[in-house]
Amino acid sequence: MKFFIDTADLTEISEAHAMGILDGVTTNPSLCAKVGVRDFEAHIAKICEIVDGDVSAEVVSTTYDDMVAEGRRLADIAPNVVVKIPLIKDGIKAIRTFTDEGIKTNCTLCFSPTQALVAAKAGATYISPFVGRLDDVSTDGMQLIEDIVTIYDNYGYETEVLVASIRHPMHVVESARIGAHVATMPLSVIEALIKHPLTDNGLAKFLADWDKLQASLK
Ligand code: E4P
Repeated sequence: MKFFIDTADLTEISEAHAMGILDGVTTNPSLCAKVGVRDFEAHIAKICEIVDGDVSAEVVSTTYDDMVAEGRRLADIAPNVVVKIPLIKDGIKAIRTFTDEGIKTNCTLCFSPTQALVAAKAGATYISPFVGRLDDVSTDGMQLIEDIVTIYDNYGYETEVLVASIRHPMHVVESARIGAHVATMPLSVIEALIKHPLTDNGLAKFLADWDKLQASLK
């Protein structure tokens, strides 16, 4: 399973990268606004310097011609840029164009299996179903992941399921159980994957016992 970090914060990206388990980055306009990105293309270039893996950069255009022009500019920033496109009609057309041109795409804002099926038919590299936002409206986000993985397996689609809008470690556990290809998460969730009170308590006890042993040897 690939781990992506879901942020535009360079410090957080560097911190996750330093752990040696980071496979890529996803950004979106809201995440860029959160850290006050001024020059988007320069910012994406900096992220691509830190991380070897795929870096999703989202277009803000909403018509086919504009999305294609904007996406081509983003793809030119670095070889690991993935053009992130919203799941609307013109977006699907743009994904087909990028697929034919060999440009990687991440089809975002997916909330249904039918949307995911259409994105795969257009040849999207990644589909991003938003589990947390579905849970927020009393709909089972993880059921959507299960449906998409089943549908893609049934037909052998190569589009990778990139679970997005992850809020807590159980979203990651369930994604892995179902067999989703990628989980994108905030740094807080990556850190929460490691935490266990029995580990912390156990380590404290080991170190205390070691100190006692050393003291007794003096
Ligand atoms: C990532 O690709 C998505 O844009 C992101 O996970 C959305 O997360 P949110 O629902 O917490 O805003």
